[in-house]
Amino acid sequence: MSSSEFPVTVFEAIKAYLDQAPTYHVAVEAILIAWICYLLLFSKRYRPQSKHDKLSKEEEDELIGEWNPEPLVPDGYPSDREVDPSPIVTGTAGAHITVNGKECLNLATLNFLGLLENSTVKEAAARSIQKYGVGSCGPRGFYGTVDVHLELEKRLAKFTQREETILYSYGFAAVSSCIPAYSKRRDIIFVDEGVAFSIQKGLVASRSKLKYFKHNDMADLHRLLEEQRKLDEKNPAKAKVTRKFMVAEALYYNWGDLAPLPKLVEFRNKYRIPLILDESVSFGVLGATGRGATEHFELDPEDVDIMCVSLDMAVASVGGFCAGKAYVIDHQRLSGLGYCFSASVPPMMASAAIEGLNIMEGDGSIFTRLRANAKKMRELLFGVSGVEVCGLEACPVIHLRVTTPTSCQESDQQLLQTIADECIASGVAIVTAKYLDEEYQKPPPSLRLTVSSEHTEAELTTAAGVIKQAIAKHILAS
Ligand SMILES: Cc1ncc(COP(=O)(O)O)c(C=O)c1O
Repeated sequence: MSSSEFPVTVFEAIKAYLDQAPTYHVAVEAILIAWICYLLLFSKRYRPQSKHDKLSKEEEDELIGEWNPEPLVPDGYPSDREVDPSPIVTGTAGAHITVNGKECLNLATLNFLGLLENSTVKEAAARSIQKYGVGSCGPRGFYGTVDVHLELEKRLAKFTQREETILYSYGFAAVSSCIPAYSKRRDIIFVDEGVAFSIQKGLVASRSKLKYFKHNDMADLHRLLEEQRKLDEKNPAKAKVTRKFMVAEALYYNWGDLAPLPKLVEFRNKYRIPLILDESVSFGVLGATGRGATEHFELDPEDVDIMCVSLDMAVASVGGFCAGKAYVIDHQRLSGLGYCFSASVPPMMASAAIEGLNIMEGDGSIFTRLRANAKKMRELLFGVSGVEVCGLEACPVIHLRVTTPTSCQESDQQLLQTIADECIASGVAIVTAKYLDEEYQKPPPSLRLTVSSEHTEAELTTAAGVIKQAIAKHILAS
């Protein structure tokens, strides 16, 4: 178009456009303009309520009367359901325990090294309570960091032979915060299907893609890793931005058996996938000096990228920690949710844990005693008809499972509960392992016993006798 032909009015401009534009173009534009006009003229508009639109009292009552709230518990939940009364403990839960008023030998709680009733630990906690009071009343970043927290982190780093540790208020919070601090949406986690609930919760919170391998089955893990390697070769750009992790327990809480750690480390090195290992049960149990699974297998502690431990088993305190390289662990100080947003461990519990470490460092015989007791208890129970004694010889957590389970897990669980109740009535406190329906692959029902380094041989023999009798009465007779 030359300057002399330049349209001078709106109508001339429209006419010139219509002359030049293709017909389909004009048609689409006409439809769009008609649609916009329709929306402007006829669609309902949001009008904030003026005071004239206010509901009358009757209308308000009618609306409230019509409102039917969503039920807070699932449909069909019996309103008269009785909550299972937990056994009530009075007094110290040491080698002996008073349950519902009855004094029993204690094979129910996880006080592996007997530190719960140790007098020097109690004195350290008592001194601490005088100095710091009972709680901490603040997360670590908000005036919740007390000098004893820093001391405990240092001592744990020295004990575990790692560069740094980070302390959480609960063992559950340690592992369930650690996993999502590193592994995010679209990342991949290779995980043993036998891991405990706290680990499962960390996996879910990470929103990562979970690839479960069969419990302790390294061939199955190898298959998954190879499958992934091939996928990564096909799509290297995606592989580059997808982080991968392996997650396992060293001694499995729900099984009592040992992870094949050397093989996991071999895969870690071969496929360059960091390994997160929960050592809650193995810490203070395995290894000549109680340092856990790496010491047991004579591996370099750095072969495990992150170790997570609950402090309320061998250490008999409260809390948990993760250990590893300083730059890896420091990441959790801003990304570990349980660390950032939960009040820190009460200082008296940190002081008790420090004293517990003093004892663990000073007396290596407690680990030998503990493992000997675990072995002894297994020997005493081996050959009992009707149940299988599961797990590693040295593991203080012993699961007894029925050798011929029925097709109904609930009735097996009930049968084992009857045995546990009978044992308590006869003066031996044991428990049945309990799981939630939402758990990944619930293990079969079991009786769970825990031995301590402080049990005498005579006590173990008495306990085994009572347990065998109850099993004979209820399993063999049924
Ligand atoms: C493997 C494992 N990690 C962590 C925890 C959590 O420990 P805590 O009792 O200290 O919260 C448990 C609890 O049973 C566990 O079995």
